[in-house]
Amino acid sequence: MCGIVAYVGEKEAYPIIIEGLKRLEYRGYDSAGISVINGDLATFKCKGKVSDLEAVILDGPLHGNVGIGHTRWATHGVPNDVNAHPHLSGDGNLSIIHNGIIENYAPLKQALENLGHVFKSDTDTEVLIHLIEEVKKEDNLSLEEATRRALQKVVGAYAIVILDKENPHKIVGAKKSSPLVFGIGDGEYFLASDASPMVKYTDKVIYLKDEEIITIDLNEGYEIRTIENEIKKPKVLQIDLKIEELEKGGYEHFMLKEIYQQPITIAESMRGRINAAEGWGKLGGMELHMNRFLNAKRIVLTACGTSWHAAMIAEYLFEDLARIPTEVEYASEFRYRNPIISPDDVIIALSQSGETADTLAAVKLAKSKGAFIYGIVNNVGSTIARTTDSGSYIHAGPEIGVASTKAFTSQLTVLTLMAIILGYQKGKISEDYYRQLLAEMESVPTLVSKILAKADQIKYIAGEVRNASNALYLGRGYNFPIALEGALKLKEISYIHAEGYPAAEMKHGPIALIDMYMPVVIIATNKSAHEKIISNIQEVKARKGIVIAVITEGDQTIKEMADFSIEIPNIAEPLSPLLAVIPLQILSYHIAVMRGCHVDQPRNLAKSVTVE
Ligand code: AGP
Ligand code: GLU
Repeated sequence: MCGIVAYVGEKEAYPIIIEGLKRLEYRGYDSAGISVINGDLATFKCKGKVSDLEAVILDGPLHGNVGIGHTRWATHGVPNDVNAHPHLSGDGNLSIIHNGIIENYAPLKQALENLGHVFKSDTDTEVLIHLIEEVKKEDNLSLEEATRRALQKVVGAYAIVILDKENPHKIVGAKKSSPLVFGIGDGEYFLASDASPMVKYTDKVIYLKDEEIITIDLNEGYEIRTIENEIKKPKVLQIDLKIEELEKGGYEHFMLKEIYQQPITIAESMRGRINAAEGWGKLGGMELHMNRFLNAKRIVLTACGTSWHAAMIAEYLFEDLARIPTEVEYASEFRYRNPIISPDDVIIALSQSGETADTLAAVKLAKSKGAFIYGIVNNVGSTIARTTDSGSYIHAGPEIGVASTKAFTSQLTVLTLMAIILGYQKGKISEDYYRQLLAEMESVPTLVSKILAKADQIKYIAGEVRNASNALYLGRGYNFPIALEGALKLKEISYIHAEGYPAAEMKHGPIALIDMYMPVVIIATNKSAHEKIISNIQEVKARKGIVIAVITEGDQTIKEMADFSIEIPNIAEPLSPLLAVIPLQILSYHIAVMRGCHVDQPRNLAKSVTVE
């Protein structure tokens, strides 16, 4: 996954790169490194975080106006100092940072070794810089031309930036599959995995396309060519990203800030899209293609991780409210299992980052089969957003905590709205129910605030179960995917093993795990299956499990049965996941903090999974 950042300008490159890397650390934090041109090529790198890198550079900041930096999520070679980026060419003149995987690195490495190249690291990236060095030397080429020719020999994914000691005012970047944003400031230029390292300095960007190579020269400006050597003149875009959105704003962690932002972010996801008093709901991207939705034989949702959980809830929503047959697919499975896709299908791709490699590949596959693809994405201008036929941004603002919270509720907001609109337009729900659902949607931000006000009570429960080794999450119907999401939140940030199950499935296996040490979180808000949920709770209690029940306000029956209960406001059942997930996010957050875990950057994970 990795985060990459590069600077060329009049300012000192070091502080800009270090700050940029800290913003990109959500992409990986196995190691960090930097190269700055200052007459020579000063390169420092080490295992660990960007703060560890700063500590390694004992003599203080490096001086120089051109530099590159990297924060790694290892794919090839363990996270250690040697495998950290930047990697240098054999002669030490070129330095590269890379996000992606060079799939044919092994034969390339062998061929280069036969030519006398000696490698220091186990990475695929080092092979690429030796390849560029070899091509450059062989024909005495410029760096950009050598890069272009070398990339023609490469199979895989890359966003790269290269420095050349002998050309101290120049950097060369290129991309395929991994993201690379080019920022144009006042007499200065930036390249980075996303726009966050450059927003302080400019709002003018170009999102580079696959197989484009950019040469930036401080004196001569920039030039973009394709790998086929065609000159490109892409439009410069203006981005709307504010620096405050990238800061913790007084919260201890980004995850906590993002949990607390949800009343606002959910409202943002609905802004201009709903008016219950006037009785309308609309999504611009969907309106433009309403016939495709209304005539769809099938909706297929594809996504990964938390976005996949939002997709699962959409399956309940689309089938229940709009009566459209709906399927949900893990993007990684969908793309490789030769799925049947017809032009009558609507494919919905969900992704917070808009960069997830598996989801992007699923989109491309469905596109190649002629299906209509709708994107539900948070990151504006991201690859998935640009690859789909139409879509709706969720407008949750930058989500930096690796564990997704506000993006999930915003995805759900948009999906719920879509289902309500489709249900009404297809005549599957009555005018009254339609208006009721719209009105209840508008009340969600206030209801979420009410739940957030109970955080101390949830923190208390966290303290009671913080030492558990396992946990079970149970839910039925609309709240079964919430059980999966609750379990994912707990395992990814607290490292407690947790599983989500449909409540009634418990007796087919997981019940064997229940004993007096096992917390069982039960989402028990369903009106339609209240009695059944009560039976499930009794089954857990009979095995001495610790019952933590998420219940509807005033549900005295379950409150008296449960060891701990968290009340959430009453709401129409299709909307209940939007509320039920909130206490589970807070519970996981506090358990993880109490266990001393790094909440925003959990081990082995990265925010944006741009590798398969
Ligand atoms: C969420 O908490 C996870 N970190 C992860 O499952 C994530 O949802 C998944 O990688 C998909 O990401 P995307 O929404 O950016 O595509
Ligand atoms: N393949 C490179 C490495 O392992 C880059 C990893 C990535 O971008 O995820 O260092």
